Amino acid sequence: MLLIASVAALGGLLFGYDTGVISGAILFITKDFALDTRMAEFTISIVLIGCIGGAAAAGGLADRIGRRPTLLSAGLVFLVGAIVSALAPNDGVLLVGRFVVGIGIGFSSVVAPLYISEVAPATIRGSLVSLYQFAITIGILTAYVVDYALAHGGEWRWMLGLAVVPSLILIGGMLVMPESPRYLFKIGGDARARSELLRIHVDAATSEREERSIRESLTAKSGGFEVFRVPSTRLALFIGVSLALLQQITGINTVIYYGPQIFEMAGVTSATASILAQALVGTVNCLLTLVAIFFVDRIGRKPLLYAGLVGMFVALSALAYSFAQPHLSGRLGTIALASMMVYVGCFAFSLGPILWLLLAEIFPLPARGLGMSISTLANWVGNFLVSQFFLTMVERLGQAGTFSIYAALCVVTIIFVRTMVPETKRELLEQIRVAPA
Ligand code: BGC
Repeated sequence: MLLIASVAALGGLLFGYDTGVISGAILFITKDFALDTRMAEFTISIVLIGCIGGAAAAGGLADRIGRRPTLLSAGLVFLVGAIVSALAPNDGVLLVGRFVVGIGIGFSSVVAPLYISEVAPATIRGSLVSLYQFAITIGILTAYVVDYALAHGGEWRWMLGLAVVPSLILIGGMLVMPESPRYLFKIGGDARARSELLRIHVDAATSEREERSIRESLTAKSGGFEVFRVPSTRLALFIGVSLALLQQITGINTVIYYGPQIFEMAGVTSATASILAQALVGTVNCLLTLVAIFFVDRIGRKPLLYAGLVGMFVALSALAYSFAQPHLSGRLGTIALASMMVYVGCFAFSLGPILWLLLAEIFPLPARGLGMSISTLANWVGNFLVSQFFLTMVERLGQAGTFSIYAALCVVTIIFVRTMVPETKRELLEQIRVAPA
């Protein structure tokens, strides 16, 4: 089980690596290809545009050709994208390569959590899907470290090209992994579904229990957008899309993508100190995801979400307060830096992993592919908007204003979780029902 989840989570590693690596590479690409600011920005954001396209296509594909072949395709797309980007003779080809990488990220952000949740036993599903988020954070941290190590020689081609390694592992791994039994029952491949269930769960009693439960959920079979005619499925979609947007508009990627710039605003003057502080952000992000892995199936999704969101709110308020003072130096500077770490740490054990987990849990089987696709699409659109407009927001509203807005949106998220989000701890996927609390 751990192996299945780990291989699928490699999709997360590539997600993190490929979104994180460009921040260091862009400096050298700009120089080599003599890019102006607009082209440099576009080279960064075209990945997110690819993600939006990939996420939109992935759910339908996963429903048509299966979860496993879609993840396999994600691996192939990553591989092609990494090779094209690394060897790009000019900026046009580089843009194509980065767009292709984006499609791979979009694919895997839908199908990796979907696949893991469908093969996992209910009692450890939370931990296994959280592994996916853990892989994203390892990917981001690896990208920071690789950027740092290769910065000396300005080797941006290696920075982008190294993604080939995890892509190959993902492809190799998915070739031998089982297909999701839930998907197989859905398309009527009962005999294979049963043998995959046995391969995963080993004991016959558990397999039979799972099979009964999956079959019951399949009585309401329908295809395409028709599934959203059912009110509870529509409600699940509303919850999925809203939570996916809230995960982004509470500001996490301003710190993940623009960390060094924010440190500079907070009074860190040397570039080395900025890079070190960013590496610390990456480490905190990674380590605190472990809290979710250990506790999400024990204490549940909602308690972790509340704890994390309250922490994020307090940290963002402290950050806004520090920036509102006339001089951000000495003790205030330290408070600002510490607040950023607390903010990232609290995200890492709550809204980070639990979004992906809930997206993979709240849709009934016939709507799962499409529901995840649409919600994930919303997540990437939110990501694009926040990262595109962060610097403009700071220019217009100031740092204090910008961080206050994120803090207020944490409060909105707490209220949303309280009133709309179901607790899904230890339920079989088929037993999960959404209904306003
Ligand atoms: C988010 C990403 C973010 C990452 C940070 C993920 O759950 O979807 O946008 O960069 O967490 O660890």
